[in-house]
Amino acid sequence: MCGIIGYIGGKSAVPILMSGLSRLEYRGYDSAGLATIVDGKVHNIKAKGKLSNLRALLEESPVQCTTGVGHTRWATHGAPSDLNAHPHCDCKGEISLIHNGIIENYLSIKKELETEGHTFISETDTEVLVHLIEHNYKGDIAEAVRKSLLRVEGSYAIGVVTSKEPGKIVAARLDSPLVIGLGRGENFIGSDIPAFLPYTRRVQHIQDREMVVLTDSSVEIFDLSGKKITRKVTEVHWDSAMAEKAGYRHFMLKEIYEQPRTIAETLKGRFDGDDITIEEMKLTNTDLADVNRIVITACGTAYHAGIVGKYFLEEYARIPVEMDVASEYRYRNPVLDDKTLVIAITQSGETADTLVSFRNAIAQGAKSIAITNVVGSSITRETPNLILTRAGLEIGVAATKTFTAQVTAMILLGLKIGRARGTISVEDFRMFREELHKVPALIEKILQDIEPVRTVARKYYKSRDFLFLGRSVGYPVALEGALKLKEISYIHAEGYAAGEMKHGPIALIDDMVPVVNILNHGPVFEKMLSNVKEVKARHAITIGIVNEGDESFDEYLDEIIKVPYIHPNLSPLLTTIPLQLLSYFIADKRDKDVDQPRNLAKSVTVE
Ligand code: G6P
Repeated sequence: MCGIIGYIGGKSAVPILMSGLSRLEYRGYDSAGLATIVDGKVHNIKAKGKLSNLRALLEESPVQCTTGVGHTRWATHGAPSDLNAHPHCDCKGEISLIHNGIIENYLSIKKELETEGHTFISETDTEVLVHLIEHNYKGDIAEAVRKSLLRVEGSYAIGVVTSKEPGKIVAARLDSPLVIGLGRGENFIGSDIPAFLPYTRRVQHIQDREMVVLTDSSVEIFDLSGKKITRKVTEVHWDSAMAEKAGYRHFMLKEIYEQPRTIAETLKGRFDGDDITIEEMKLTNTDLADVNRIVITACGTAYHAGIVGKYFLEEYARIPVEMDVASEYRYRNPVLDDKTLVIAITQSGETADTLVSFRNAIAQGAKSIAITNVVGSSITRETPNLILTRAGLEIGVAATKTFTAQVTAMILLGLKIGRARGTISVEDFRMFREELHKVPALIEKILQDIEPVRTVARKYYKSRDFLFLGRSVGYPVALEGALKLKEISYIHAEGYAAGEMKHGPIALIDDMVPVVNILNHGPVFEKMLSNVKEVKARHAITIGIVNEGDESFDEYLDEIIKVPYIHPNLSPLLTTIPLQLLSYFIADKRDKDVDQPRNLAKSVTVE
């Protein structure tokens, strides 16, 4: 979703705001804008399209200031345009606001304000909020913001500046992320930490229905009743190099190559004798042994990681596991009790649907665990039970390293619950420990020889449709392979459970359609062999991800991509890698914007 940044201090604000926006651009790139205070007056500048358009405007007419807020937009209400771009202003041009989220009751407030004489120039919900602040302004901007926020429904992270009180930024949040960065003689706001990471690592996390008043030398946090709040300052360990491409052409490629390290990090220190330790999780083995049902809720790539986890949990923890995409789950009326464990998987920790469905389940008494990559993100406040996937900052919109880290976390959890319930033998547990620790080196090996994947990309990048087929844990890999391809190359791609082919999708096959098959060794190997024969008989172009040394498919496959053997339940950690690379090379060959695909956003904080 949208990204926001704010700076107040002694330095020139525009370069800081612009570099912050470039680190946030992955959150949205429909338009961008800045609201600054120049010579005691509000100065807004904004442009439709990518940040480079705003940068060009600033080069034409440079702005000198030491206070400002900036925004990069992912459009919700109102098409991407100069007018709808943030910041938005009050009638007199004295108050300026940037906003991430949706003001749901904006139409009724707008009508009221129009009767009072306010004029609106955009189609956005956001503009209503700045006029409401103008309406409530009686000499104290923080008070006007507080009063206005009590009126609005929906979600927001906002930054407000005004010429009436030029030495202040007022910010607030509800269900949209907001972090404060504390510097010396300067302070920052950001939708996430990378926004200001080159300047400070000292942060305060703002919670829902809280507002902050920043000057260059102070940060005060209040709740919406006006009561002052003390919040601890935390030091983050990410460094700003993580937000750079480190010589790779794209963030996505860099992140694919980081996977040996991010999986090793996620595994580090987790094995403790014949048990798993997860320090950030309060649930004990006795609590886990008491669970008789598990529900997993997630969106997008995280949902696919959940399916891998479901299969593992069913097999080794012997508990029934249900899975639902969070956008469906939140509107169901699920049956839950304190013997149900609900697991939310979300790399950002901010996905609105995942947050709400998780919150609802907790409210109904379920036990809870959140798997996330972002310390301090919204989901970490919903539960005392976390599993942190130490994948580091992911900037490419298409998730890669966070997927394999989520799968790793789910396997660790499966092993832990299996031990707690006594459903996995010590021998199997130890075997998985060994197998898991082999994964980083095996991925390294795949990444050392990417030529076969590149060749397949070169041959088929013009195809109109792609199918991905897998069985068992190869099925979520097929779903993820198809999602990656459509996200960044805009080729129509479908992932199917291979056994479902004959119930419809087989009709799509002809000699123009590449079919990617997940063919590693495991219990469904023979079945997959039959499926490949079926598609080959219909003249499809057959591409196989097979184990090194396996020749059983050779006569049925047009293209072969090899991965090393690993225990079948862990195979998604390897078979996914060539599919990530395949979508990357195809998108790059088609000259698409790999890191910022059209219409998508890294973290979806609206419904
Ligand atoms: C967006 C991203 C996907 C991601 C999904 C869930 O759609 O583009 O890559 O998988 O959100 O995000 P989360 O942060 O909850 O894992």
